[in-house]
Amino acid sequence: MSPFEVTRTLPADATTAALRADVLAGLTSEPKALPPKWFYDARGSELFERITQLPEYYPTRAEAEILRDRAADIAAASGARTLVELGSGSSEKTRHLLRALPELACYVPVDVSESALAQAGEALLAEHPELRVHALVADFTAPLDLPDTPGPRLFVFLGGTIGNLLPAERTAFLKAVRGRLEPGDALLIGTDLVKDEATLVAAYDDAQGVTAAFNKNVLAVMNRELGADFDPDEFDHIARWVPDGEWIEMRLRARTDLTVKIPALDLAVTFAAGEEMRTEVSTKFRHETVRDELAAVDLDLKEWWTDAAGRFALSLSAAV
Ligand code: SAH
Ligand code: TRP
Repeated sequence: MSPFEVTRTLPADATTAALRADVLAGLTSEPKALPPKWFYDARGSELFERITQLPEYYPTRAEAEILRDRAADIAAASGARTLVELGSGSSEKTRHLLRALPELACYVPVDVSESALAQAGEALLAEHPELRVHALVADFTAPLDLPDTPGPRLFVFLGGTIGNLLPAERTAFLKAVRGRLEPGDALLIGTDLVKDEATLVAAYDDAQGVTAAFNKNVLAVMNRELGADFDPDEFDHIARWVPDGEWIEMRLRARTDLTVKIPALDLAVTFAAGEEMRTEVSTKFRHETVRDELAAVDLDLKEWWTDAAGRFALSLSAAV
């Protein structure tokens, strides 16, 4: 058996069906909104990798610092033989864990981006030829069909991606993950922390415009997959701090009155000049909110680690 397998639980046409349903619901609702997973086609994954290297985007460096400094503690606490990573992307930071886990036999990266999984898988196998890598092209908000691999298992969810889920989605997600944990398994989550507004807004509105291009990529996805005629130049990228939810909200704002045709949905959508469509939230957390959200689904927060500057946290939890 090849050490690198990819399983698609999302057939290509299911992706289009889900995109259709999401776009139809999102663009006919008031205010307009789209779910963030549609950013990540091959170009979106590439743009995200560029975001992680921007001077303004501190979360990746802060989380990498914690992983580097705490990898041995995480390994000792989990003793994992299987590492399941949700929204693994490039798996770049995960290398700190792969190197530190002496008993690790299997790595199961899960992502909607097949191109990201393929690139990451190749790079990892060069470094860990003995590791069984079973990549899963799947939506982590849907029930996952995980391969049968040895326990204990460590589930990891990095990058602050949990903050891209809305509160109710987050609870449902945590409940589902909790339901999969067996005694001895653990869950490692990366969360960006509440801090001053200027730092947060800059991280989502960089000077080079990479984040703007990433945000607008969702328009290109709808053009390609649904035959829509969005003109990215007719929209502005907006990143705004929303104190009530303690999240950064990414939006696309129409520059003028315009009508967009979406043939695959047999739909024409009108935007008024200045109208904003929400494309993503990125929630920022506090120690207490993470602890309470975990406790609400019977997860016990065992460890809380931050980077030296206190910008980002990793939490390790287990079933109560
Ligand atoms: N973990 C990486 C990537 C974070 S970006 C890091 O920390 O740098 C978020 C990743 O989650 C992307 O790779 C994206 O393709 C994936 N993703 C987003 N929504 C998803 C969903 N619903 N199901 C599975 N993967 C998803
Ligand atoms: N999980 C990342 C975050 O919330 C995703 C992200 C970074 C993102 N920059 C973005 C999403 C810009 C949309 C737009 O930080």
